[in-house]
Amino acid sequence: MKPFAVFVLFLQLTCAAWAGEAELLFVRRVAPLFAGKCLACHGKDDAKMKGGLDMRTRVSTLIGGDSGKRAFIEGKPEESPLFLAVTRAHDDDWKAMPPKEADKLYAEQVAWIKEWIAGGAPWPDEARVQIVAKANEAKWSAEDGVTAVTSGGQSPEWTNRRYKPEGLWAYQPVKKPSPLESSGNPIDAFIAAKMPADLHPAPAADRVTLIRRATFDLTGLPPKPEAVDGFVNDPLPDAEAFAKVIECLLASPHYGERMTQHWLDVTRYADTSGFANDYERGNAWRYRDYVVRAFNADKRYDQFVREQIAGDEIGPNNPEMLVATGFLRMGPWELTGMEVAKIERPERVLVRAASLGGAKRKSVRHPSN
Ligand code: HEC
Repeated sequence: MKPFAVFVLFLQLTCAAWAGEAELLFVRRVAPLFAGKCLACHGKDDAKMKGGLDMRTRVSTLIGGDSGKRAFIEGKPEESPLFLAVTRAHDDDWKAMPPKEADKLYAEQVAWIKEWIAGGAPWPDEARVQIVAKANEAKWSAEDGVTAVTSGGQSPEWTNRRYKPEGLWAYQPVKKPSPLESSGNPIDAFIAAKMPADLHPAPAADRVTLIRRATFDLTGLPPKPEAVDGFVNDPLPDAEAFAKVIECLLASPHYGERMTQHWLDVTRYADTSGFANDYERGNAWRYRDYVVRAFNADKRYDQFVREQIAGDEIGPNNPEMLVATGFLRMGPWELTGMEVAKIERPERVLVRAASLGGAKRKSVRHPSN
């Protein structure tokens, strides 16, 4: 074999395992971009191929459309109709693509196409695309984040949102971490483990400060002087004496009132309907008090949510269950004669569902959950 042939063979062999930058770019960015932004008009339907351009394969794209020109020239983005069209700056030669202004590519996407053509516009077949995609899956999803399909947005990017995995913590199964070595509270050990070296924890609060903070946190009120005295003079060690304070606060009826504020925020509670008329809701407080009772009785979270959605089904003759469904009447409602009931009702249902979704997500952090 001639040395040159050996060299070519060597190149071919290494290329089989190795994907160049431009090929990676195609698989990771350009192919999904074509699929999402171009193929609807340039490949999906033979009968409706726009501009005569079929972008399903490299060859059909090279052949080009009605203009009779190749859609791209390897290595030369500035001479490639496909690139010139997506820049939207060559209206004299090439219509802006995609045609609708609202669908225009982001600068970053335009840059991918440019870079890909400049890199020789490699366009591997589907089997090769799969191999390259699979080989890089873990790396790319670590860099770009995991995809979560949302209820729908203005663009595919919004519908298929990418999140850093840690950003989706609320949807991941709860894991019990093994406690770290610590002399004090194990939670402090977790904080200490991530504390930058130049930061130092504040000194432990004295008993007066501590009971004041805890009481505001759990009841929204300052501690009574007797409670402060009791804690300050408690001969038990700090941790045990403080545990007693917390038990006492959790047993206080004000605990339910305090926690209810948070739940009422997510359910969009108000004593009036909002908007211009802002009608009074004379009975809204009954629902508010139901939530207070639920917290004070330490009601299970699943039961709590069920009662608010379907209390009338669960206990049709139980006033407490009927009051729970006050949830469904929360949030702002526009009440005017101009409203069309048919439009209004589904909208209200959607808003309630969204509020419940938000409530459920937030509740992951809720201590009684
Ligand atoms: C909503 C439909 C639609 C979408 C989406 C669309 N195009 Fe087009 N495309 C057209 C139409 C219509 C023409 C013919 C325009 C004309 O010549 O008046 C065309 C023509 C073209 C041409 C010129 C073909 C030729 O040789 O004449 C190129 C290149 C092109 N499109 C690229 C793209 C690219 C790249 C995308 C995606 C980023 C895209 N188009 C998305 C409808 C679309």
